[in-house]
Amino acid sequence: MLIITTKQELINQVDTCKSQGKRIGLVPTMGALHEGHASLVRQSLSENDITVVSVFVNPTQFNNKEDLIKYPRTLDRDSALLEKMGVDFVFAPQPEEMYDAAEMSKPFDFDFGGLDKVMEGKMRPGHFNGVVQVVSKLFYLVRPDRAYFGEKDFQQLAIIRFMVDRSALKGTFGKLQIVGCPIVRESSGLALSSRNERLSAEEHETAIAISRVLFASCEWAKKTTVSEVQKRVVKEVNAVAGLEVEYYEIVDADTLLPTDSFANAVGCITVYCGPVRLIDNIRY
Ligand code: PAF
Repeated sequence: MLIITTKQELINQVDTCKSQGKRIGLVPTMGALHEGHASLVRQSLSENDITVVSVFVNPTQFNNKEDLIKYPRTLDRDSALLEKMGVDFVFAPQPEEMYDAAEMSKPFDFDFGGLDKVMEGKMRPGHFNGVVQVVSKLFYLVRPDRAYFGEKDFQQLAIIRFMVDRSALKGTFGKLQIVGCPIVRESSGLALSSRNERLSAEEHETAIAISRVLFASCEWAKKTTVSEVQKRVVKEVNAVAGLEVEYYEIVDADTLLPTDSFANAVGCITVYCGPVRLIDNIRY
């Protein structure tokens, strides 16, 4: 496995693979890898000849400086895991390699047809512009056949699909296929996240209630309305000491707009567990 830190070296390696007719899978990550990432990597390894994993804590998608500083950085541990899994290339650039000063200071502006104006986008203005800024750069550099993203970040996945399928960039990325992979959970139900590393043992125990309430809400959905389920999820999560719901929205899985039907609906939640902001979602 080769660890690459410059764009030029990445382009050179990709050129060589492409000239040999190899299919390339890309798994973009911000590191602090866990079993959720490993599931994306495994799928890429099984569907492509070459797998590139990027490990880059992207500064332009953080609208909270503190969050950026505290984001776990574990490149040695991540590389050891990826090498063991059989990954071909790890791309781990420094921010200066990815962005010039102008890009760092001026927000990237992309029209997502409103998908970025709800939920995470409303709470974290500019976040998805930063995500798409880095993901599109990675697509240009790696020119992958497939790129893998977790469904835990449901809105991110919808926005990346939009960017690739329906935007002015259509055609730019050739036949790139965006592959969404299911949420990986602990046996307790807690969705795996790099942010879980910041939970104390007690907070970790508390956080389990989030998925417990979401799973229970699928039962409530059989007997009552979207609006009642929405209110009850918020009430029951907030009733757990140490948890505070930022939002819970039941939306159409394609448009991400509020819906009053459970058909094609997904419930997206963001909860503070102590100081740690956790997200999860459930399909109805
Ligand atoms: O989901 C993430 O970890 C990040 O948003 C991504 C897609 C790697 C872009 O920085």
